Amino acid sequence: MKRWFIAWCHKMINNNLWYKNAVFYEISVRAFKDSDGDGRGDLRGLTEKLDYLQALGVDCIWIMPIYPSPLRDDGYDIADYYSVDPAYGSLDQLKVLIEAAHQRNIRIIMDLVLNHTSDANPWFQAARSDKNSPYRDYYVWSDTDQIYKDARIIFVDTERSNWTWDEQAGQYFWHRFYSTQPDLNFDNPRVQEEMLNVARFWLDLGIDGFRADAVPYLFEREGTNCENLPETHVYLKKLRSIMDEHYPGRILLCEANQWPEDVRPYFGDGDEFHMGFHFPIMPRIYMALKKGRFEDMEEIMRRTPPIPENCQWCTFLRNHDELTLEMVTEEERQWMWKEYAPEPNMKLNLGIRRRLAPLLDNDRRKIELANSLLFTLPGTPIIYYGDEIGMGDNLNLFDRNGVRTPMQWDDSTNGGFTSGTPFTEMVQGEYSCQKVNVAEQMKSPNSLLRTIQKMIALRKQYAAFGGSDMEWIETGNPAVSVYLRRHDDDVIIVFNNLSNAIQTVQIPAQYQMTGRDLFSNQSFSLEQQLELQPYSYYWFHK
Ligand code: GLC
Repeated sequence: MKRWFIAWCHKMINNNLWYKNAVFYEISVRAFKDSDGDGRGDLRGLTEKLDYLQALGVDCIWIMPIYPSPLRDDGYDIADYYSVDPAYGSLDQLKVLIEAAHQRNIRIIMDLVLNHTSDANPWFQAARSDKNSPYRDYYVWSDTDQIYKDARIIFVDTERSNWTWDEQAGQYFWHRFYSTQPDLNFDNPRVQEEMLNVARFWLDLGIDGFRADAVPYLFEREGTNCENLPETHVYLKKLRSIMDEHYPGRILLCEANQWPEDVRPYFGDGDEFHMGFHFPIMPRIYMALKKGRFEDMEEIMRRTPPIPENCQWCTFLRNHDELTLEMVTEEERQWMWKEYAPEPNMKLNLGIRRRLAPLLDNDRRKIELANSLLFTLPGTPIIYYGDEIGMGDNLNLFDRNGVRTPMQWDDSTNGGFTSGTPFTEMVQGEYSCQKVNVAEQMKSPNSLLRTIQKMIALRKQYAAFGGSDMEWIETGNPAVSVYLRRHDDDVIIVFNNLSNAIQTVQIPAQYQMTGRDLFSNQSFSLEQQLELQPYSYYWFHK
């Protein structure tokens, strides 16, 4: 075989694994940038801000739902799967956005909500009003609410049951989330085909893949908790095979808020999801920072099974939802609430509805340290918009809206987000746009934004960070997490002092070596001992 052909094949293969050493960024389009003065962010606005995302070093953007929706669950309640809500723009504007992003080497994935629709979706309207409608069987109906009792309720603050009586239909319908979000019936082959068509539609338009929402719940079976069922995997593998065959290089990212061993099957043999969120590591990063000990993080990482070579975890500190505490014990949850949600209105369902900076007391050292963990642990990091500048939240807003406030671009009225009246009130006080904004932090070489930019650049420069394994190094100090990441001969040892005190670690003989500190680029020797300032970190490169 010709050498150039082999090289080309390699390039293509590596290119198709682009997500393994990438940095992702999650965006609420409505809250990012308004281009037309109607107070709501839109696709044009986001397109205008691509240069910013490129300068930050982002490789892939995940946009939250932009489908037409009554917004009972901020767009995760979809009324039409085949178009864009005019508030955000049009299909053509989405194409322009994708093209402009690709020119900057940025990919765009979007939410694919398979499990449920909005009750405003014409499918549901037809289903509820006519027993003989072909859409009736798109949903899960029952004459009794006494089946599937072992399925837990997810939105515990609002929902009492997963069944809701529908007067018009004269039956109960099944829903795992809000009662305005009826679940689709995946036992119906037409539903299965319809949702594959939805995926094809957006892939044909040029989207680079999907963050597949709430996938554990697609099927229901009596006597089970109706999560992670074998039928679900069969279906998802079908979706994947279509992508492999017709859309190579596009990805599926799995939202399964589950233990690592339960997420593992979603990777299949490398033939289901390319990526999966690592939910349990997230609260343990906050636990580590509060306790000043890394043991919980180590425990969950050791419990994380290996995944196929073409797969990758996705790690995050915050996202658009509450900081979920589903993947901790009851005792740990109570402790997290006590430590991180001292006011009752900070709690939501089984979580905490606050942003990164307020959770970490707006303490620059802690925010950097949390990011140091995010960027060096196995998995592709995903940044939640605004956390790179340390934006705050607004607890007066309903549900999770308090962490979805407008991006603060500068210190002008409305933070440069809109020339009109913003769709929601801007954050005030300590985190107002006068105090926290992009323009200011871009100017200052020592800002949080500049530090995050540097972390992103380093993270991407070293393939050692892109693998899925790590080696914990025993240093006799429970307050400093020390782990090694490796790619061939490239070795990076990461030190994170989780405590508010100076700490010393003992370096085992085999790790005593000379190298460089990646941040200062100064040569640096690991000798018998290393001293670390409170909440400080080193990324040591051999
Ligand atoms: C996912 C989304 C969340 C949404 C839910 C129901 O968990 O992250 O925002 O409410 O699915 O669609």
